[in-house]
Amino acid sequence: MTGVLDGKVVVVSGVGPGLGRSICLRAAAAGASVVLAARTESRLKEVAAEVDAAGGTSLVVPTDITDDDAVDGLVRSVLDEFGRADVLVNNAFALPSMKPLARTDFDQITASLDLTVLGTLRVIKAFTDTLAEADGAIVNINSMVIRHSEPRYGSYKLAKSALLAMSQTLATELGGKGIRINTVAPGYIWDDQLKWYFGEVAKKYDITPEQVYEQTAAKSDLKRLPEPDEIAEAVVFLASPMASAITGHTLDVNCGEYHD
Ligand SMILES: NC(=O)c1ccc[n+]([C@@H]2O[C@H](COP(=O)([O-])OP(=O)(O)OC[C@H]3O[C@@H](n4cnc5c(N)ncnc54)[C@H](OP(=O)(O)O)[C@@H]3O)[C@@H](O)[C@H]2O)c1
Repeated sequence: MTGVLDGKVVVVSGVGPGLGRSICLRAAAAGASVVLAARTESRLKEVAAEVDAAGGTSLVVPTDITDDDAVDGLVRSVLDEFGRADVLVNNAFALPSMKPLARTDFDQITASLDLTVLGTLRVIKAFTDTLAEADGAIVNINSMVIRHSEPRYGSYKLAKSALLAMSQTLATELGGKGIRINTVAPGYIWDDQLKWYFGEVAKKYDITPEQVYEQTAAKSDLKRLPEPDEIAEAVVFLASPMASAITGHTLDVNCGEYHD
């Protein structure tokens, strides 16, 4: 995808060590200047250093997307530095409650909706004018939780389903301004977090982590789990002019675990 984002400014909200990091690195490899936003400045700087070391351009803006002033400050920092924003990727994640929905505290559900739905909407609203000037693109990161109704995922599913509904409505409402909005729905992501978790599952059932991987991957068509960069490449595609006629769409990236 070298060059597909040449000259573009890509803002990534919710950058952590997992998918957020990969999105920043793949966007930079595709030619973009990358703005990294989340609350933990030290982690943003680590990822930005990787972007810079690979020859990219980065800007770190510590931001809490649940805070109006912080998000307004993010927009100001981006415009001061680059004068424009072409792409917004919304990736923020906090561990959801994994209790049965009927036993989940309302406070936890509210916090999840506040981050995933209202936090994302706040960032989109704040960037709409500048994205409209650039015929910009938005990519919201969702999850395969929208494809199943397994127990204990209810709180997460509520938030991600609302995020999807919001993305589809905004695609219609902002299409007239030339802004495209799409969704990437990853399945499992074969990252350090999942490697650790499979190690714990293996200990519990007295099997090897490789067996946990094989049993999990067996549910997918490709019999493997996607790497973070494979999800990030789907994000870069939807953000790029290669997807210039695609909006309101959801791209599942799950090695074929769920599909029509
Ligand atoms: N990991 C998976 O297996 C998986 C599977 C399917 C879908 N997904 C989706 O993929 C996305 C990325 O997941 P990930 O685990 O790879 O995450 P990640 O990129 O490692 O990190 C996401 C970051 O979001 C930031 N964040 C949380 N609250 C925030 C706030 N109020 N304001 C700004 N930033 C905030 C956190 O950083 P700070 O604490 O520094 O703010 C966190 O490090 C999520 O949308 C998730 O739902 C993940």
